[in-house]
Amino acid sequence: MIKSIRLLNWRSHSDTKLEFRQGTNLLVGIMGAGKSSVLEGISFALFGTFPALERRKLKLDNVVRLNEPKATIILEFEWDNHLYRSERSIERSKKGTSSKAELYRDNFLIEHGPVAVTSAISSLMALDYDLFTRAIYAEQNNLDYFLTLDPGRRKEEVDALLGLDKFETARANIVTVIHRTKSKRQVLEERFSKERVMELEAKEKTQTSVQAQAEILLKEASLAYETQARLAQSLSSRLEAMRKTREQFERLDKEAVRLSAQQESLIKELEGQAVDEASLKELETKLKSLAEERSKLNSSMKSAEEQASTISKESGSIEAKLRAASEASAKLATTRAELTSLLANQTMETLSKQQKDAEQSLISLESERKSIERELTELNEAMQRLKPGLSECPLCSAKLTEDGISHVKSEKESATKTKKARVAEISGLLITSKRANEDLATRTRKVSILSEKTTGLEVEAKAAEGLQPRKAVLEAEIAKAWVAREDIRKKADALSDTIERLKVEASTVRSLVGKKAELAAISKRLAITKEQLAQTKFDEKAFEELRSAAEKSGLEAERALSSKRASEAQLKSSSDILKLVREELTTIRALENDIVDLAKLEEQLSIYRNALLETQANLRLSLAEAINTAMNEIWGMFYPYRNYHSLRLGVSEKDYIFEVNDGSAWKGLETVASGGERASAALALRIALAMVLTPRLSWLILDEPTHNLDSEAVEMLSLALQSKVPEVVKQTFVITHDEAFMGSDFAASYRLTRDKERNGETKIESA
Ligand SMILES: Nc1ncnc2c1ncn2[C@@H]1O[C@H](COP(=O)(O)OP(=O)(O)OP(=O)(O)O)[C@@H](O)[C@H]1O
Ligand SMILES: [Mg+2]
Repeated sequence: MIKSIRLLNWRSHSDTKLEFRQGTNLLVGIMGAGKSSVLEGISFALFGTFPALERRKLKLDNVVRLNEPKATIILEFEWDNHLYRSERSIERSKKGTSSKAELYRDNFLIEHGPVAVTSAISSLMALDYDLFTRAIYAEQNNLDYFLTLDPGRRKEEVDALLGLDKFETARANIVTVIHRTKSKRQVLEERFSKERVMELEAKEKTQTSVQAQAEILLKEASLAYETQARLAQSLSSRLEAMRKTREQFERLDKEAVRLSAQQESLIKELEGQAVDEASLKELETKLKSLAEERSKLNSSMKSAEEQASTISKESGSIEAKLRAASEASAKLATTRAELTSLLANQTMETLSKQQKDAEQSLISLESERKSIERELTELNEAMQRLKPGLSECPLCSAKLTEDGISHVKSEKESATKTKKARVAEISGLLITSKRANEDLATRTRKVSILSEKTTGLEVEAKAAEGLQPRKAVLEAEIAKAWVAREDIRKKADALSDTIERLKVEASTVRSLVGKKAELAAISKRLAITKEQLAQTKFDEKAFEELRSAAEKSGLEAERALSSKRASEAQLKSSSDILKLVREELTTIRALENDIVDLAKLEEQLSIYRNALLETQANLRLSLAEAINTAMNEIWGMFYPYRNYHSLRLGVSEKDYIFEVNDGSAWKGLETVASGGERASAALALRIALAMVLTPRLSWLILDEPTHNLDSEAVEMLSLALQSKVPEVVKQTFVITHDEAFMGSDFAASYRLTRDKERNGETKIESA
């Protein structure tokens, strides 16, 4: 059920909201009040278009109210217990006109975009725009659409409306398939030949017996070949065994010859030679003991050398000592002469005494000078203290006068003079004495050093005493040791010669002993080889015979093989021919089957085509019947006269014919009915179509259905729409400009007004 519509800037509407109810909803108003625009709004909200737009009488841009940028339609409808809201708007801009759409279910956006919303609504209600405009929405001035069409066109349109056009399409397709199948069958028939089948069948028979013959021949040839091959195989393996025996025989023979030659040459070599293993042993023992002896001699020689070397070392050290003593004696004479000259007829003791005395006199001179200098200091101080009236006479202790003082002064001055002269004298004496004393000390030191040196040299010269004889003894011992060593060396050399000689002798004996052993081994191997040779039986003649037999048998086997191969080839060629024959037979038989199948298919397709035609015709009749029943149900409701008590949609081969029954016969509506009667009939058909074709939806939209009706008919139609039609159609929308149409039992009725002179907007009031 459509609940409401809101039109914003849509054509003459600025903002109109209309609420609808179940039953018949009426819109009444003068021309150009904006009534049709409401119904167009419903169509646009559902499918994004309406008939005038489809026919290009209008452009999208034209529906937007003048001087407004955007038009919007909001339609609310109930479906399957949900409230749907479709909102579509058209917007003008510099770039052109664009449109938007949104679909809400229970206030939730479920789809957006014009195409998506249309397709969602179509699938929700199983209703497309085409069916909507044919079965539900009877556009203004188009109520009798089906009555005005040409017969052929009407058939097509009504068939399409009833969904029968699909049968026509199916039938046309099937006819095409039948034609195609037929021409395919004809092509196959041209390729098929019964004679060829018979010919091939005869060929198959002959070829089968040829093949069987070839199989027998092949079996025989195979058998012959196998026997021959086995024989050849056994001969060749026997020959192989014999060849191996021959090879072994030849090898052993060669070996025996070689060994015999070796044996002979060894016998020759050993001829007249006494080979004595015992003497070899003896020689080796002797060689060993001689080697030991020589080794002992070598160590004695080494110890003699060591002894000589030890003695040489001692003799060397004695010689060094002797050399040092002679050098000390030479130095002693010079040192002694130097000492004698330094002493100058004095002894060391007198010289020491002389030095001590000199030191003593130096000390006493020094102490004398010091005491005189003290006395001089005292004299000077006493003279300083001499003052007239104060100083006393040194002799009488009376106070001295001026004269007394000068007297004492002169006495003291003369004493000072004498003492100073003595100090000067002592200083001169000290200088001379010091120099003499230093000379004496130097001389004493030199004497002491020289006398020590002399003592050392004397000890050194004395140390060599008695060493000379020891040296002579040692030299004699060295000479002796070397003589002893030379003796040993000679002995060792002689021993080495003997050893070398014995070694040569032993090597000769050893070689002979080796050869003897070799001879024994060769003789043994020769005996074995001869024994093996005797055991290896080889018969040259038998070998030659076997070889020629094997060769012959091999050739026989090859011959048998080629005859077997020839048989195989024969069998293959006959099999190939048979295969080709059978393949062709299979193909040609398949062809025959295909022809039969295609013929059957043609038949079945024809049956199907007929069934389709029949079904279509039956359906057409049934639908027409349903429409007729609905039409007659309605007809009585709003047709006020009794001249035509029923009407029907008759079905002929080429058209749907509308007929009225005047009580005596069915007559063509076109031929008998007036304009008003036609309008009534058309209305009945529209309502019937809505009832039959959209029973679930049960909507009907009629724009100016009163056109051409007289006042009685108008009144009756109004009554029918108020009371009867709601029984068969749930929700109807009716537009009229005819005030007489008004009534109190409409589910909802609105009056639309508009100040057209001022191009005003549509206004709504309940009517
Ligand atoms: N874009 C628009 N802007 C404003 N007014 C418009 C626009 N398009 C159409 N109209 C006006 O709206 C009116 C058409 O409205 P509508 O066809 O709905 O009238 P109506 O009530 O069905 O009239 P009638 O009874 O003659 O069929 C016209 O008067 C027209 O001039
Ligand atoms: Mg109109």
